[in-house]
Amino acid sequence: MTTPTLSARGLVKRYGHVTAIDGADFDLLPGEVLAVVGDNGAGKSSLIKALSGALVPDAGEIKVDGETVHFRTPIDARRYGIETVYQDLALSPAQDIASNMFLGREIRRRGPLGLIRKLDTAKMRAEAQRVLDELDIKIKSITQPVETLSGGQRQGVAVARAAAFGTKAVIMDEPTAALGVAESARVLALIDRIRERGLPVVLISHNMPHVFDIADRIHVHRLGRRVAVVSPKTTSMNQVVGLITGALEVDENGEVVESAVSRGLSA
Ligand SMILES: Nc1ncnc2c1ncn2[C@@H]1O[C@H](COP(=O)(O)OP(=O)(O)OP(=O)(O)O)[C@@H](O)[C@H]1O
Ligand SMILES: [Mg+2]
Repeated sequence: MTTPTLSARGLVKRYGHVTAIDGADFDLLPGEVLAVVGDNGAGKSSLIKALSGALVPDAGEIKVDGETVHFRTPIDARRYGIETVYQDLALSPAQDIASNMFLGREIRRRGPLGLIRKLDTAKMRAEAQRVLDELDIKIKSITQPVETLSGGQRQGVAVARAAAFGTKAVIMDEPTAALGVAESARVLALIDRIRERGLPVVLISHNMPHVFDIADRIHVHRLGRRVAVVSPKTTSMNQVVGLITGALEVDENGEVVESAVSRGLSA
């Protein structure tokens, strides 16, 4: 069996009386695009925050390439090559694209006496341009402040940043939620290119056509835990919606069937 690139078993996270993650399992396989779908409040963002070090779970285990890890902060996850595009993008609007790409990990070079380490702006700009070109993101100038970019271009910068630094996996929380048709298509194309480079991608999305367009597998999250993993090739959009609402469930043979709850209601 293939060892998942990133996996979790029995994750739990409580906020007072609210259980955001309720014994969640997760598996991201090498090279795949895994869509994570579920209702508002199902716990998708909480799950990926645990996987990216942005929250520390109360219980459960996370593994990278089969090795148990303990992420305390997003920096810990980054050290393993796991990059996350958060929904708010975490960009710094007044700074230019290159500065944003290298936010928190600026390239520096030694000053004359080897004491002061100056920012190597030229190197960061060249590197940022290279990554944008590689991902086919068209931006007039690398020195343009991020606040002057369109929503889609900003999304592109955030995705490019993750693609540039991710060496293990890229996680994206609703990267197309605020985008138009053309901009969404660009982000989906970017995801495709990241996959072509051999990097697995986790895509959280409410957009079923996007999910069916790009995902290799679909992880359905409901009430704080994984309730199904299905293939978009053998499962319909209506079936996935049924799994999300709880009208349908996956039986022991992996078949999508009417759930115990809805059988009880119709009996
Ligand atoms: N910091 C927090 N404090 C208290 N409750 C929280 C916190 N973060 C999340 N929750 C709660 O945990 C549950 C899961 O939230 P989460 O954001 O993970 O859902 P989601 O599946 O990402 O939803 P959406 O599709 O709306 O983004 C919700 O009930 C939410 O209110
Ligand atoms: Mg969310």
